[in-house]
Amino acid sequence: MKSIIITGGAGFIGSHVVRLFVNKYPEYRIINLDKLTYAGNLANLKDIENKPNYTFVKADICDFDTILSLMKQYEVDGIIHLAAESHVDRSIKDPFTFAKTNVIGTLSLLQAARLYWESLPEQYEGKRFYHISTDEVYGALEMTHPEGIEPPFKTTASSTDHHLAYGTDFFYETNKYNPHSPYSASKASSDHFVRAFHDTYSMPTIVTNCSNNYGPYQFPEKLIPLFINNIRHHKPLPVYGKGENVRDWLYVEDHARAIDTIFHNGKIAETYNIGGFNEWKNIDLIKVLIRTVDRALGNEEGASEKLITYVTDRAGHDLRYAIDSTKLQKELGWEPSLQFEEGIAMTVEWYLSNQEWMDNITSGEYENYYNEMYKNR
Ligand code: NAD
Ligand code: TYD
Repeated sequence: MKSIIITGGAGFIGSHVVRLFVNKYPEYRIINLDKLTYAGNLANLKDIENKPNYTFVKADICDFDTILSLMKQYEVDGIIHLAAESHVDRSIKDPFTFAKTNVIGTLSLLQAARLYWESLPEQYEGKRFYHISTDEVYGALEMTHPEGIEPPFKTTASSTDHHLAYGTDFFYETNKYNPHSPYSASKASSDHFVRAFHDTYSMPTIVTNCSNNYGPYQFPEKLIPLFINNIRHHKPLPVYGKGENVRDWLYVEDHARAIDTIFHNGKIAETYNIGGFNEWKNIDLIKVLIRTVDRALGNEEGASEKLITYVTDRAGHDLRYAIDSTKLQKELGWEPSLQFEEGIAMTVEWYLSNQEWMDNITSGEYENYYNEMYKNR
């Protein structure tokens, strides 16, 4: 039996990874290790919480002693590490928390895994430390083609009527790291520590860098769930700057499937980029989102565009992200499963039919955070 710790399993992406592994691998023991910060929510896992192969442990990844004793207690063979502080705007306000969780937390997991695995007769045989990172570590790409050009790739993730690239350059696995925000700087640092543990101690590590995710259970401080909820409540939609920044979007379940593929078949010490060649300017995406929500709510399509409010830009706002995931697609056969409009329609439908989930989050502490975040914009 494989015993796997998934850190951050109560968060957005982590909950999809936990659900996939618990359902797909009944013979594995899946330990969801999560501190339950503001972003962690056990309601994300209601449907699998009573499965016999699932265990939840409330713990902080920075707590080295606890992690080491959990490694021993559960005889852990693998770690899939997603726990992190993940929101760029928060990192601008409070960079220390990001350094602590993302850098020291990752280091404490690495060191605990090393001490435990090195104490076993088989040492690193059959073991795996898989670190989930972001494309933001590569920095920002130029927007050489603001009107969009035909991209060099065709995949199922791109919609039929929108399949554009906004520049000729992409993020490749070989790119130099060039992070700009405290969030991406902390993730970059953690990626370096993971690779250093392979190079120094021969720990079997893998790192993946994924583009922006969207889908159910995302905390509503991120663009898509925030805007769906604001449209529902007729609240302003705060678009940073001119809304011209480009992000590359992947449906969260496609990311979870990629993680499964890479955890089982990826090569040790390799890096894989994960993305669906699906670039959107924020303002174009927001308009698709508005039309989809209006349709679902029975409003006139586009009526909620009047809620769009241009606000002061994010400090150091990266202009364009675009992932090249050719390596993953060619070497491991993964590909995204959805066209973007399908994914957005499913996402909108999920948030509108799970309003209780949203309302439980958007009361109390969140309300204070939201008001504070937007009061000066
Ligand atoms: P999230 O903010 O939704 O969830 C983070 C989870 O980590 C929460 O459950 C939280 O309670 C937990 N956590 C935070 N600090 C912890 C600590 N000290 N100890 C234990 N648990 C702790 O994040 P997400 O969007 O699901 O992102 C998950 C991972 O994927 C992160 O590492 C992020 O950098 C990476 N990533 C995210 C995206 C994206 O679009 N969301 C894209 C690429 C990569
Ligand atoms: P976000 O969901 O925070 O992801 P990231 O910063 O990791 O890419 O933001 C996605 C894009 O949307 C980013 O360019 C910032 C922009 N944005 C807004 O315009 N308004 C908002 O209220 C938020 C949260 C984001």
